[in-house]
Amino acid sequence: MIFKLNEEQLANQEKYRAFAEAKVKPLAEEMDENEKLDEGLLDDLKKEGFLGIPFSKEYGGVGGTYLDYCLAVEELSKCDGSTGVTISVHTSLCCSCIDSFGTEEQKQKFLRPLVDGTSYGCFGLTEPNAGSDAAGQQTEAVYDEAADEYVINGSKIFTTNAEFADYCIVFAMTDKSLGTKGITAFVVDLRSPGVKVNPSIKRMGIRAASNCEVFYEDVRVPAANRLSEEGKGFKIAMKALDGGRIGIAAQAVGIAQGALDIALAYVKERHQFGRPIAAFQTTQFKLAQMQTEIDAARLLVYRAATTKDDGEVYGPQAAMAKLKASAVANDVCREAVQLMGGYGYCREYQAERYLRDAKITEIYEGTSEVMKMVISGAMKVK
Ligand code: CAA
Repeated sequence: MIFKLNEEQLANQEKYRAFAEAKVKPLAEEMDENEKLDEGLLDDLKKEGFLGIPFSKEYGGVGGTYLDYCLAVEELSKCDGSTGVTISVHTSLCCSCIDSFGTEEQKQKFLRPLVDGTSYGCFGLTEPNAGSDAAGQQTEAVYDEAADEYVINGSKIFTTNAEFADYCIVFAMTDKSLGTKGITAFVVDLRSPGVKVNPSIKRMGIRAASNCEVFYEDVRVPAANRLSEEGKGFKIAMKALDGGRIGIAAQAVGIAQGALDIALAYVKERHQFGRPIAAFQTTQFKLAQMQTEIDAARLLVYRAATTKDDGEVYGPQAAMAKLKASAVANDVCREAVQLMGGYGYCREYQAERYLRDAKITEIYEGTSEVMKMVISGAMKVK
């Protein structure tokens, strides 16, 4: 069993870190304030290959591993959680669906532009009334035989990346009587007539990320855009989320490490009672605990990612990584703000942004409660 990154992984990590430090960090505060990602940054991420890390070079991807992709999400999130989730949703929720379930033709048509840095993608599963209960889909797709097209009607909420994405994996009921077996997945071009993307929803954290309600009104989608067979959509969504949860766990680790790094620099500078507050053992012990928790979460992320890379069952490992890393992110960010006292609470010092960003990691791509359902399910508790 190997607990260390190899030389190639370390070199990739260094490359992602250098990019994040140079291109993401200087913009993070302003993007949070403006509640919008910088357009130059979105282009730079494309140019530097961040959109195609774990995908084959055959389709224009980078040809890296899932672990490489997690290292990238962690490094981006260390500087900015919004940038981290943008790449995570694009990669694990959108591209992975086409990579795993698309035909050769669909890969050439949709996966190639998504992974070669031409287009961004998103994932439309959650609906106003179908969150944790993802099977409760109300969006419908009706097959029009004469046109060999499906007509989609409905709405999706919390669609990350929707404002600038070109393609969305949309899940819709093709047969309401069949429950989860009546859900079908489609690749929808968001420029299609009938698609309306609302402005980003105002949120507590990851404020720069695009996160929208999307309406589909008589949207005509060629049957050639259907992923796999009718009725396979729920399993496609669940598989994508298994991988997505590792990405979000990596995001949580990055957010936690970013907040700790800020607090660590602060306690060395800040003097109270005639000494830097780093000189107090209470401070040292807090920092030691925080770093240990982050490293434990990071190892769970690495385990889940390498299990996926090895082609083994990784859903429960992904859920454990997300459950632990998201809790650690929230605890560490809260402690970071506390260590920095009144300054920790001020926007200028940035720790509060990490605390706001951390909360969502316990909610999206499956709440912590859903993670426990997945883990206990695999343990065959009942
Ligand atoms: N892989 C493959 N198949 C799976 C699976 C998986 N991980 N999980 C379940 N399935 C299959 C089951 O085997 C079952 O198939 P059969 O009927 O053939 O046996 C079928 O799916 C139904 O399974 P369940 O009965 O377990 O389904 P459920 O309705 O009880 O739901 C759940 C289980 C785990 C709660 C699931 O609904 C879930 O994960 N909910 C959370 C949804 C979620 O994470 N949403 C996030 C959306 S994306 C987002 O956050 C926005 C963003 O952009 C960041």
